Amino acid sequence: MERPTALTGIKPTGHPHLGNYIGAIKPALEMAKDNTSQGIYFIADYHALNSVQDRKKFKEYTYEIAAAWLSLGLDPEKVIFYRQSDVPEILELHWILSCLTPKGLMNRAHAYKAKVEENAAEGNDSDAGVNMGLFTYPILMAADILLFNSDKVPVGKDQVQHVEIARDIADNFNRTFGEAIKLPQYVIEEETAVIPGLDGRKMSKSYGNTIPLFAEEKALKKLVNKIVTDSTPPEEPKEVKGSSLFTLYKEFAAAPEAASMKEKYKQGIGWGQVKKEIFEVMNRELSEPRQKYYEYLDNKQEIDKILERGAEKARSIASLQLKKIKEMIGC
Ligand code: TRP
Repeated sequence: MERPTALTGIKPTGHPHLGNYIGAIKPALEMAKDNTSQGIYFIADYHALNSVQDRKKFKEYTYEIAAAWLSLGLDPEKVIFYRQSDVPEILELHWILSCLTPKGLMNRAHAYKAKVEENAAEGNDSDAGVNMGLFTYPILMAADILLFNSDKVPVGKDQVQHVEIARDIADNFNRTFGEAIKLPQYVIEEETAVIPGLDGRKMSKSYGNTIPLFAEEKALKKLVNKIVTDSTPPEEPKEVKGSSLFTLYKEFAAAPEAASMKEKYKQGIGWGQVKKEIFEVMNRELSEPRQKYYEYLDNKQEIDKILERGAEKARSIASLQLKKIKEMIGC
């Protein structure tokens, strides 16, 4: 029997940070390890285009994201790894699906809806700052997913609605033209904690509170020291629950280390000491990937080669599915 397909896209809209690693990269690489499914991971550069419209940044982010995945252990021999814009079949399917998608479904998509609500709150025209790429974003994502007959789509909670929309669109197609497209299922990592940023809020590029994943050792140490804490004195017992420092520590520590840190919290430990230990476990896990990351970025042709080979593999699957779909609609 064929293995199920697990597909996910990574949008290159900024420098990779710790939140990306813990929330997305790490669980996806874990999932790829057990080989029970065929992993398809791609850089969703066309999805980024609705917001990143600076040629240099657009290119740079794509390379950085690719280098991050490769240096953290993505094996391009096992996983199909490509750049979305290298697979034109996705765009062809995007159009076909657009014609099967009621506009109302897009009106309800959360990113667009949030923008419209923001405009209303600020007294702007409801379409201000909305391009068609933002509006039809979920259709492009449906094309990404459906072209590969994906079974599972590992995503963050904010992307669940998009996968549901992809299911709706697939269902529309199947009912209109006959069964051709598998209905995908989202997979969310329930267990992944919300990773706190420097200010204690969720680590996010939009809050400007991120820790770059590949900050050099000294810079990393400095940033960890900058994480906000309260003024509880060192000797006072502390709760691990709700402690951003503990949340971060736990992500990088081995289980016995985390247990012992919990004990230290109970006994009383100074925030400075906790930060020192966070830096140590983080640096232990990240120093080797960091070195590889900068090697990849110094050798972009190598990244190009890997992505091109991945695109060839992706296209060999995609073209078959597209052909079948085109036949069904009468092209
Ligand atoms: N929209 C996703 C995000 O912002 C990225 C993405 C694009 C994606 N295409 C996809 C995720 C297909 C899963 C499947 O994170």
